[in-house]
Amino acid sequence: MENEVWDELAFLDYTPAHFAHYEELLERHPEGHLCMTDAETGELVATGMCVPLNLANDAALPREGWDWIVDTASAQKGHFANIIGALSISVPEAHRHRGLARDLVKAMAVVADLHGCSGVIAPVRPSGKTNYPFIEMGEYVAWGDDRGRIFDPWLRSHVAAGGTLRGVCDRSMVVEKPIEFWEDWATVESLSRDGSIPLRGGLAPLRVDHRKGVGSYVEPNVWVWHAV
Ligand SMILES: CC(C)(COP(=O)(O)OP(=O)(O)OC[C@H]1O[C@@H](n2cnc3c(N)ncnc32)[C@H](O)[C@@H]1OP(=O)(O)O)[C@@H](O)C(=O)NCCC(=O)NCCS
Repeated sequence: MENEVWDELAFLDYTPAHFAHYEELLERHPEGHLCMTDAETGELVATGMCVPLNLANDAALPREGWDWIVDTASAQKGHFANIIGALSISVPEAHRHRGLARDLVKAMAVVADLHGCSGVIAPVRPSGKTNYPFIEMGEYVAWGDDRGRIFDPWLRSHVAAGGTLRGVCDRSMVVEKPIEFWEDWATVESLSRDGSIPLRGGLAPLRVDHRKGVGSYVEPNVWVWHAV
């Protein structure tokens, strides 16, 4: 299901942290795999993935968001875990807008409680930001809708599930690859010029640099804290 839901965003599999450790974390922490099934049909309708890690009491949540959780959980191997780091929630198109993802966020808080952890930290990928890649994340997060609610639906869901916003992690997922790598995801036909180019599914633009021969994608996310 993760592959199906994330297919459009497969470039995110190439952050060094994801590439090096994600599969290993899946293997090591089966307790962090959450699967939601339809009670009548048994059909899988949503999945979540989270991992245990240790965060010092006074430590600030870092700019490196998602990549930092993966690197840290991989290095710590679950020792002295006091917090759960959320890595993904996946709901296929057919099952969206029913509150399933919101329930999975709450389920992660239950996992935290069961393991004696004080909460869940989530580097959230605001789903509506794909339509505004050139707006700074800090500005986007402050937007409200015409009913005075948080504008972004996925951030709104996290808050509805009891989360509190803890600031932007502006280097949450960083992918730097040769320019040709990006051709499948670029929304313009040619990447022949330097500059900032929107990507399908990207929350920020790709920066193309022909002198170095690389395209760099630096994804900003938003830290959300769910206490248990
Ligand atoms: C982001 C994603 C997980 C959201 O999934 P979802 O199940 O549609 O999300 P939610 O649980 O937040 O849905 C809640 C919405 O459904 C509606 N809803 C309908 N019935 C509901 C119910 N019984 N309970 C709660 N909400 C309900 C709510 O109105 C709410 O919308 P609102 O905030 O505008 O009122 C999903 O779009 C997805 O998998 N995207 C691709 C991968 C991704 O980006 N994952 C997140 C990054 S980690």
